[in-house]
Amino acid sequence: MKYSKELAQNYSANRSEYNDTDPMLFAELESVGLVGKRIIDIGCGDGSHAAWMVERGASQVIGADLNESMIALAKEKARNWNNLNFLLADGSKLPIASESMDRVVSNYVIHYFPQAILIFNEISRLLKDDGYFIGTFNITDVEKGFEYLYNQVMPIRLQHRHGSVMIKNLIKPREEIEQAIADSALIVLKELEINNLHSVVDESYPYKEYIRKQSVLMVLQRVRRSG
Ligand SMILES: C[S@@+](CC[C@H](N)C(=O)[O-])C[C@H]1O[C@@H](n2cnc3c(N)ncnc32)[C@H](O)[C@@H]1O
Repeated sequence: MKYSKELAQNYSANRSEYNDTDPMLFAELESVGLVGKRIIDIGCGDGSHAAWMVERGASQVIGADLNESMIALAKEKARNWNNLNFLLADGSKLPIASESMDRVVSNYVIHYFPQAILIFNEISRLLKDDGYFIGTFNITDVEKGFEYLYNQVMPIRLQHRHGSVMIKNLIKPREEIEQAIADSALIVLKELEINNLHSVVDESYPYKEYIRKQSVLMVLQRVRRSG
């Protein structure tokens, strides 16, 4: 899903005010280890996380994002580290060799993909055997009878001190996500529910009362390839 230039700038300018779930992501990443690792951040936005990973000792970090304005901001903010690169690309079709990554990170991006299998297959392809995915995303369950809402757009409001930023997510059911993980040879090592106070379904959404939006952090591991 495309972000306009204004939205990218606004998101980046206010990011520090809605980054309270970052410490959980960082803690899980440090717990599986990032020093000396090759890491890709899918949907890297303005590159803040990618830069953090380089500072913490990752050997090589690639930040990939679909949005030109985000990649431009990331490049602008990045220092001239030769082990940090940014790539304008769709996270489900990355021009990167298979089995080349020790870690795949993705913070609030998975819910943008039209089908969960597209992104989990790509994560699985990129990861080396036993490599880890650490990421956050939204899962939205709808009440029985409202299944037609799946894969439709839901307006999300990211609130910050100076106002708010409106973004859009696709509604993804838990079953689709769990099936896609299993079909991609990934196993769930950990799932934490996270309380993302700033990311709320906008009042304008007419089906608000029939849905339950949940943000989760998952740690997944790539199953060993045989042979
Ligand atoms: C909510 S922002 C999160 C950005 C960053 N991960 C962070 O934590 O600040 C979602 C990002 O996902 C990117 N995105 C959306 N769809 C994408 C896709 N198909 N491939 C790569 N990036 C995508 C957007 O351009 C945006 O930068």
